[in-house]
Amino acid sequence: MRPGRLVLTLALLRARGGGAAPLLDQLPSGVTSVLINIGSSLNPVLPPPENRSVISIAFDPIVASEIRSKPRLYVVPAAVSEEGGLATMGVYNADGGSSSLLKPAMTAEWNVGFEGALPPTKIVPVLSMQSVLEAIPPRLLLWLLKTDMQGKDFSAVASVGSLIRRVPYIMSEVWLENLHTYEGASNDYCRDWLPYMLKMGYRPKALHGGGRAPRRTFAGASDALTFCSQSTGRSQARRNKGVEILEADAFWVRNDTSLPPPPIFITKAAINNEAIHFGVRDIDKYNYRPGLQSGGGNVWAGRGK
Ligand SMILES: *[C@@H]1O[C@H](CO)[C@@H](O)[C@H](O)[C@H]1NC(C)=O
Ligand SMILES: *[C@@H]1O[C@H](CO)[C@@H](O)[C@H](O)[C@H]1NC(C)=O
Repeated sequence: MRPGRLVLTLALLRARGGGAAPLLDQLPSGVTSVLINIGSSLNPVLPPPENRSVISIAFDPIVASEIRSKPRLYVVPAAVSEEGGLATMGVYNADGGSSSLLKPAMTAEWNVGFEGALPPTKIVPVLSMQSVLEAIPPRLLLWLLKTDMQGKDFSAVASVGSLIRRVPYIMSEVWLENLHTYEGASNDYCRDWLPYMLKMGYRPKALHGGGRAPRRTFAGASDALTFCSQSTGRSQARRNKGVEILEADAFWVRNDTSLPPPPIFITKAAINNEAIHFGVRDIDKYNYRPGLQSGGGNVWAGRGK
């Protein structure tokens, strides 16, 4: 085959989808880093208001159209999981705030519809975590990955193997003490996350849960491992008290990063809290500035002068 023809054939293959994977190659020039929020609900991670080099990409298949638009926030109406395709998704909580590809492990107020009716189900597009990460052009920094995937967090992150090391800062929703929010999923901090993330070269920095869930910062891997070695005893005590769900955000930092923590907070107090969760105590040196954001509740900031 003549070289010219080979080029043409390759071009045709590409045009038919036989070639390069899709890529976010038309982002505004000047963008150098990306915050990714999977399962954003109505409160996506927002880019700092005054730093035009940062964009945020939020994924939510149920409430995407209700997320208020913001500069440099991109909203993708899709679920993310270990594999792509099409799936049914249970819409839980009246506002779709905790919809999942999985079935709840128990019947509770948050997952039954009005007066006990079955929750509605939607058919949603699902992207593989790998395709999401690979779509971010390699020249861009993937500064933060925040997941709140209602049980799919661990399997999705584990599905990409060493590709996860593109991300220096990770916040993931985890389950604790062997309690399951959804059936058939592995998302336990001690059983699944901690051993895996240590193997992948991440430092466990903190666990931060609401209500009865633990709030802990870890001095190092051994501190987190000790916390986990005491998990079985705690688990029984929780069960005896009738606790069915225990969830928290886990904070991870890649072992070799020298980047500052991602700028994701609104109030000064929150800046300090979240920075501490990522193991950063001298946050003032980064001069982050609180920035008010939409949606209510979440705390995201910009970096000041
Ligand atoms: C970070 O973790 C990776 C993967 O476990 C490992 O190969 C590497 O040596 C570690 N680097 C540092 C600086 O600890
Ligand atoms: C803006 O964000 C970039 C990363 O995209 C970071 O390197 C830079 O320090 C930030 N600038 C300011 C002024 O915060």
